[in-house]
This record gives sequence, structure tokens and C-alpha cells, in this order.
Amino acid sequence: MNILKLGGSLLTDKRRKFSFRSEVMKRVAQEIKESGARLVVVHGGGSFGHPLAVEYKLAEGIVSEEQLRGVALTRAAMTRFNLLVVEALIEAGVNAIGVQTSAIAECSDARVKRINLSTVRGFFELGLTPVLYGDVVLDSIRGVCILSGDQLVAKLAEEFKPERIVLAADVDGVFDRNPEEPGAKLIPEINPENYEDVLKVVARGDDATGGMRGKLGELINLARIGYDSIIINALAEGRLKKALLGEPVKCTAIKGGNYP
Ligand code: IPE
Repeated sequence: MNILKLGGSLLTDKRRKFSFRSEVMKRVAQEIKESGARLVVVHGGGSFGHPLAVEYKLAEGIVSEEQLRGVALTRAAMTRFNLLVVEALIEAGVNAIGVQTSAIAECSDARVKRINLSTVRGFFELGLTPVLYGDVVLDSIRGVCILSGDQLVAKLAEEFKPERIVLAADVDGVFDRNPEEPGAKLIPEINPENYEDVLKVVARGDDATGGMRGKLGELINLARIGYDSIIINALAEGRLKKALLGEPVKCTAIKGGNYP
């Protein structure tokens, strides 16, 4: 089986609240179907999750009553987003089933403490395609936290021991500087030798889960326990399908290995 994360910036325009890129999702769903890959899918928060989480400062935990409204709004927005993803997959012929992350996971200081993956496994073994997502979840220290889709991918990998882990983004991978700057170069591989240098040049970002640096941190955790993963640009037609089939594609590969 494979684990596929659909990044929030691929499926939404992060600058406009609740903007779903339905045409992108439609093609992504088609490529998933055509690949025939058996998957557990995770999607990010994109413009459904991040703007609300930032507005209500949910990553800092609950310190005021007003933030409870932010929890409710973020939760509801993520349910809507998940339904859009699930419906597009069903439309393409994939038997997708949404699984509410906050109903199966609890954190402690923004790290997963408990997660009931038997539900996910059960649906997967029946032949369905579970679709989880980054979410606002209970946190024994902070009240709530924002659990990123990337941390979730790492937990799923520990449980499912996937053949392939694919992170589908709206950029070709990790660059040596802001990809919009002239001369920015794609870093084809991240490994124990270069990862510290890479982390230095990757932006922390101002979203609720630490931008590309936050993501990379989770992928390195994954690499530490032996799993390779790749970040690909799913806006490039056909690339996701190829990646899911294990064919070589333009990407940043994060290599499993001995990270300090
Ligand atoms: C964030 O998940 C979830 C919420 C903001 C509720 P991610 O951090 O995985 O989301 P993306 O992929 O960056 O949008």
C-alpha cells in the first residue's frame, strides 16, 4: 500500500479562505484512479484550515474562551473540505471514505499521543480508500492543537509500513531558496549528510503548522525510522500517477537513514 498526502496548497488557494481548486482535485482523483494504487490518503488544511487556525491562534492552545469559536469553525471547515475531496474521489471511481482525524487522535503538546488506527485499517482492508486530514485535535497540555497532515502521515507509516510515501504539492519539491526567486534550484535528495543545511534554507512559513520547514521536520522523522518519501508537483499532469506507480519523476526524495 501507499500513503499519499495531498497538500493544502495543491488543493486550495491558501490566500483565499475556502477556495477549493476543483479542477485540480478532479485531475488528481483521475490520476489516483488510473494508477490503481491502494492508498491511504491524507490531505492538509489549506485555505479551509490555516486561515482560521491562525486567526484564532489555535496552534498556541486554548487560552481564551473566544478561541473555542475558532475550534468549532476550523473543525466544521475541515469537515467541508474533506467532503469535497472524498466526493471528487468517488466521482472518479475511487471508493473513498472520510475519517475524521480529531475523532481518532489525541495529542500531548502538539505530538500524537494516541491514535486509533484500527478504524483506518478496517476500512482499508475492506478495500476502501480512507481519507484523513490535518485537523484541530484535543491536546492534554494545550487544550487543542493543530495536528498537521504530515505528522499524521508519519503515524500512518509506522502502522501500515507502506511501499511508497508521496507528498503531492504545488511545487516540484524543496528548493535551495524561495522557489519564486530567480535561480532557485530544486534539491533532488535530502539525506543525513545534507539535511541540516537544507533545513537552514527552508522557510519556517507563517501557517499553523510551520510551513515547509514543519513538513520537512516530519518527513525527516519518518526517514529516521527508515522510510523514504518523495515530494512531487501534482500540478504537472501525469506526475502523480507516475509517482504512485513507482516510476521515476522530478521530485525531492527524502531518504531513510541514520539521522542524528
Ligand atoms: C493543517 O494541516 C490542518 C489545519 C490547519 C486544520 P497541514 O499542515 O498538513 O496542511 P497543509 O497541507 O499545509 O495545508
